[in-house]
Amino acid sequence: MSKVLIIGSGGREHALGWKIAQSPEVSEVLYSSGNAGTYNEIKGRNIETSGSNEDLAHLIESENIDLTIIGPEQPLANGLVDFLNSRGYYKVFGPTEKAAQLESDKFFSYRIMKELKIPQADSILCKSLDEAIDAIEKTGFTVIKARGLTAGKGVTVCSTKEETLEIVEKHSEQYKDKDGNYHVLIAERLYGQEFSVFGISDGKIVSPLEISLQDHKRLLDNDKGPNTGGMGAYCPVPIASKDLVRYVANKIMTPVIQKMRSDGIEYKGFIYAGMIMTNKRLRVLEFNVRFGDPECQPAMMMINNGLYETISLALEGKLNRPKINFKPGASCCVVLASQGYPENYKKGLLISGLDEVNGIGNVKIFHAGTKLDYSNRIVTAGGRVLGVTAYSEDGIGEAQKLAYYTVQRINIDGGFYYRRDIGSKAL
Ligand code: AMP
Ligand code: GLY
Repeated sequence: MSKVLIIGSGGREHALGWKIAQSPEVSEVLYSSGNAGTYNEIKGRNIETSGSNEDLAHLIESENIDLTIIGPEQPLANGLVDFLNSRGYYKVFGPTEKAAQLESDKFFSYRIMKELKIPQADSILCKSLDEAIDAIEKTGFTVIKARGLTAGKGVTVCSTKEETLEIVEKHSEQYKDKDGNYHVLIAERLYGQEFSVFGISDGKIVSPLEISLQDHKRLLDNDKGPNTGGMGAYCPVPIASKDLVRYVANKIMTPVIQKMRSDGIEYKGFIYAGMIMTNKRLRVLEFNVRFGDPECQPAMMMINNGLYETISLALEGKLNRPKINFKPGASCCVVLASQGYPENYKKGLLISGLDEVNGIGNVKIFHAGTKLDYSNRIVTAGGRVLGVTAYSEDGIGEAQKLAYYTVQRINIDGGFYYRRDIGSKAL
């Protein structure tokens, strides 16, 4: 029997842990540091740590962990996997610091895609404000991308050349690294439906989760308002069939990790391709070195079994026979956020109704920003609070109805906010 440690505390980590705990080979899932949802999970146990490399190595040692899975990008980009490997812990699932550049350095991913002739937005890499202004003047491109990790806040999509020039000048300090060097990517704006593909890499091939996913990044219905960490997601996406997902894995993701391998950078871990379907063709918007959140929540609802077994095979470099199998139908996840998110919001608000909705079939409430207060009541602890995730074998329409039916039965003191149109693009 295996004891698994999951690093991270959001909806993605709750969903991963919940699915992995269902494997008969797993005896316990520990979360560092988890949330109120993971605390109450079957086989689950939260362990409060500082999150430092040292503390995590100590935890793996003292708890005799068999497999460690890293959820978010920041510890990967900071080299947590390298550190744990250097301490002799090799059963750690996630890319090394160098491999994580695929997400943490937009110049790195841009160059790899260019070398492999993978279709992406036309872009110009700029190393000074003057170069950026020149690039915008010459091309009329209206997308500005910061080079490094920015927690989803690094991309500004403008409508006109004038607006793009204004923003690039106004925020020029924001595009400098800690040594004062300027880096920005000026890109062509693409129009079309976005979707994502999740894969698992063993360093040699990427095996996809055979369902396409769609996030809802903007705060308001109909994709209006500011960008957020994601207000909901559903799967599968009608515009991206299983064949297209396999194509993305075989012709885009696998060549990327094989190219990295030939450059001496082995990539083992989850991988995510953010795609856009323009009227002309399919193009890649970004790679992430983790699963997306909230997309991971409906994705886990669609898996019957085999996730833990597939991760174990990937660590051994033996992914040619992945073990995951999926349910038919669709899944829809509606994020409940605190009023005021993504700006200022209150914490410590009491959440009620969870006991009742836990009894609804084909529904799972994944927790993100929640914790237990001193009286063991569940209260809010972040902007995105819950991912109300429903599954239906009858497709997205029924999954969407069930998710919203459940949302009506949950209450957060002081009210909460959610989008009313998650999944509607599929209908
Ligand atoms: P990225 O971090 O590169 O995925 O960008 C975050 C979001 O910005 C994407 O999901 C898109 O919604 C948007 N975006 C990025 N690049 C472009 C582009 N070239 N054209 C239009 N939208 C874009
Ligand atoms: N849901 C998008 C992301 O995780 O980056």
